[in-house]
Amino acid sequence: MQIPDPALVVLVGASGSGKSTWAGAHYRAKEVVSSDELRGIVGSGPHDLDASTDAFAVLETVVAARLGRGLTTVVDTLGLDPSKRQAWRDAARAAGLPAVAVLMATPDAECRRRNASRDRPVPAPALAGQLRSARDVRPLLDDEGWDLVVPVTAEHVADEPAPTAHPTIDDRTSSLGLRAVLQVSRFPWGDDPLAWLTGIAHAADEAGFAGLALMDHLIQVPQVGRAWDPIPEPWVTLGAIAGLGTGLELGTLCTPVTFRPAGIIAKAAATLSALTGGRAFVGIGAGWWEREHAAYDIPFPPARERLDDLERAIVTMKALWASGTKAYDDHGVVLPETTSYPRPDGPIPVVVGGSGERRTLRIAAAHGDACNLRTTDEAELARLIGVLRAHCDDVGRPREDVAVTVLDLPVVGSDRDDV
Ligand code: UTP
Ligand code: MG
Repeated sequence: MQIPDPALVVLVGASGSGKSTWAGAHYRAKEVVSSDELRGIVGSGPHDLDASTDAFAVLETVVAARLGRGLTTVVDTLGLDPSKRQAWRDAARAAGLPAVAVLMATPDAECRRRNASRDRPVPAPALAGQLRSARDVRPLLDDEGWDLVVPVTAEHVADEPAPTAHPTIDDRTSSLGLRAVLQVSRFPWGDDPLAWLTGIAHAADEAGFAGLALMDHLIQVPQVGRAWDPIPEPWVTLGAIAGLGTGLELGTLCTPVTFRPAGIIAKAAATLSALTGGRAFVGIGAGWWEREHAAYDIPFPPARERLDDLERAIVTMKALWASGTKAYDDHGVVLPETTSYPRPDGPIPVVVGGSGERRTLRIAAAHGDACNLRTTDEAELARLIGVLRAHCDDVGRPREDVAVTVLDLPVVGSDRDDV
């Protein structure tokens, strides 16, 4: 089919349907305006979804400027948004150019196969949504008023090797004996939170992270973002991630003891453990940010009291997770029974957050399975580990029973582009 030239050409099709490949084969690079390319220009790369708004703003400017000059313009986006299609069509009309829709008729299975073999696949649920929209768009295009609708069938399918599944990482421990947990603290999830979380969780899983941790705050903390940025309730969010079929350990870093009674944290974690086949952990700390407590009408007692509560909370959780339903009375915690079902699927590690040397590290030594130290200075880290070990010796706990985790912000790569 002969496509008029000059013209506005709008590509329509799911990810992996071959839009960019087709555009590259039929047009000069400068005639193609691609949202992916523009994300790479105004953002950190073609997959930088945070840069979408800016990228589309630039795209609209480029499209309008080119059409205004009567130049052929190929719009390489998903093309699945009817209002955007209409605006481009109207702009072509205004410029006196024919408006052409190019519909990729690639079979869904082929899109999925190509997507899976890409370096940066679109998360499966997002691709499924695109494929649904692409199916629905076919009958619409005929009535939208295009001068021409061109269906493109897959040109060379199935001559690539079958996609290799992402490597399953049985051993998530590095050659140095370290395991890395991805702590997610920012949630720039646009208008599809679950799709964003799904992408993050699968990427972390495939990259070999041992786990994924969420912050537990009621207002985004100033160290990370703005107060009006979304910061989801972590146990609900971890429940959603638990359903994604990853091998990640899931937990909080850290839950402030002030937010929920210890028994409720124990219940949430036991449920998560049951749902994930034993991949739950609990990071817990004394809490520090008064503002979020005030805003949510949650008491914020003095530090000494919060640390007492932290100690009691760990004891309470472990009592509830222990086998049986017998009464508990120890370490200042009195429970008439410890009936808690579902049972956790194996032990739930408790990671004590905070580097307070006198109390926090002592609580970690006495009751924790790990302590999470927040320092990137190696000498300081060694010193804090020494303090922790001294507490272990003091309370009669084997040193190796209390693992050390470090909250760090590693930068990985050989140069800027690689990073
Ligand atoms: P494209 O990168 O062209 O897809 O092809 P797309 O529609 O533009 O995807 P998004 O929306 O930007 O994500 C995807 C893969 O399929 C191969 C390409 O080489 C690429 O790896 N392909 C494309 C084929 O094997 N055959 C074709 O006919 C077209
Ligand atoms: Mg493309």
